[in-house]
Amino acid sequence: MKSKQICCIGAGYVGGPTMSVIALKCPDYNITVVDSNDERINSWNGPLDSLPIFEPGLKDIINSVRNKNLFFSTDVESAIRKSDIIFIAVNTPTKTSGEGKGMAADLSNIKKCSELIAKVSKTDKIIVEKSTAPVGTAQEIKNVLKSFNTKNKFEIISNPEFLAEGTAINDLTNPDRVLIGGENTVEGEIAINKIADIYREWIPEEKIIMTNTWSSELSKLASNSFLAQRISSINSLSALCEKTGAKIDEVAEAVGMDSRIGSKFLKASVGFGGSCFKKDILNLVYLCKYFNLYEVAEYWENVLKINDFQKKRFSHKIINTLKTIKDNPTISVLGWAFKKDTNDSRESASIDVVKDLLSNGINVNIYDPMVPKTTILNDIKELSDSKLKKLKISSSIDDSLVGSYGICIITEWDQFKEIDFNKASNKLVEPILFIDGRNIIDSEQIKSLFKHVMSIDS
Ligand code: NAD
Ligand code: UGA
Repeated sequence: MKSKQICCIGAGYVGGPTMSVIALKCPDYNITVVDSNDERINSWNGPLDSLPIFEPGLKDIINSVRNKNLFFSTDVESAIRKSDIIFIAVNTPTKTSGEGKGMAADLSNIKKCSELIAKVSKTDKIIVEKSTAPVGTAQEIKNVLKSFNTKNKFEIISNPEFLAEGTAINDLTNPDRVLIGGENTVEGEIAINKIADIYREWIPEEKIIMTNTWSSELSKLASNSFLAQRISSINSLSALCEKTGAKIDEVAEAVGMDSRIGSKFLKASVGFGGSCFKKDILNLVYLCKYFNLYEVAEYWENVLKINDFQKKRFSHKIINTLKTIKDNPTISVLGWAFKKDTNDSRESASIDVVKDLLSNGINVNIYDPMVPKTTILNDIKELSDSKLKKLKISSSIDDSLVGSYGICIITEWDQFKEIDFNKASNKLVEPILFIDGRNIIDSEQIKSLFKHVMSIDS
């Protein structure tokens, strides 16, 4: 048996890829990833072509470490019992009821894990908060542990994850930084170092930052909020470009070349999606309000308002254009994932855009290369049957074009850039192209094939 035992609770988009990379880089550690979702664990243990998460490069890593020093299991209790270090990587969605409803993070999964750890542990352990959680969560974990277990010592470490989906393997193998927060005590520093030792196996020392717990927790919320803020900033200017004739990509390039600003995260889009930006900003806003910092709360809340404004602007552009052409036309929507190279559609801009289209009498044919049909239907399950009747989920781009007036490309999948637009435009009833800025279809030749071309700044 390997000497160092790690357990990770939560086999999702963070737990799965993160533990796979740790297993790859740290052959001396034995890692068990556990989850209460049997189906997910079965998929992790099943054929490599049907892992629960699509992430470039992940399949090869799983192939080389699975059942060697990486194991997937539903037996949460025994994995906890045998481990010295326990990562908690469970989901922390926005609360849907109770105090802080619609804003604060729901920490019930984290609390359940903490209670279970306290109840089944027979030895001292380091608990690592990998999930994104509000400032003070480490203290809450500590309180739960103390109330259910007075025999063992637990050190709580905050080690937020900064991977982005679609590039997770690269982000994990070559991160900009690893952040480890802990208590400023002798035991706290020992625990911080034990976690740093894992990362030291492949990450240079200067990229491993150690802070107090609260700085670590707040830095994660702050990082996501800053990234989202840049997107809302550029998206807000795309609306002004539309009125003035400026081109948003040209503005982004000029602004981004200032080395103090930088060029990343300035791609105008229909709006940011993903499970975290909205949830983490709401969380920050809630914290600010809790501490009576209303101006600060309002500042960050506006990042979300612009994101909603942008999605609405785009769908209304489509609706208004189509209305002048025909009643109840069909449009082909390409892309359901919230960005390319993932099968994740949580908070995808496509969801809101398609809901608006269906609510305005437009028929929609959806195609996405990775998001399963069941997920798409689940994402819009609250729509009435009469609206859902207007929806078709296509199995190919060609299939989605049948009977369509136009194409609306929302996710920047590489395969959408390689469409034979000449052939595609011929298949359309009325060649119309709506493009999200992320698609980079900027060839004038392609655009000339369509009667109407609309981007987020035109
Ligand atoms: P996810 O929903 O994909 O996975 C979470 C998993 O935890 C689920 O499979 C769920 O069944 C399991 N789980 C929940 N409660 C459990 C319990 N009590 N016992 C056992 N299993 C339990 O979520 P995710 O996208 O991996 O995100 C996890 C956390 O990481 C969140 O806090 C998120 O904000 C943060 N985060 C996510 C990303 C990302 O790209 N998705 C990046 C950085 C940080
Ligand atoms: C984001 C952060 O980038 C990660 O650092 C963080 O760990 C993660 O959230 C998290 O905490 O969950 P992710 O949401 O996976 O990662 O993907 P991003 O690349 O950040 O994209 C988010 C959304 O913003 C996507 O819809 C993307 O298309 C959009 N986006 C991104 C733009 O509209 N414009 C840009 O310039 C960049």
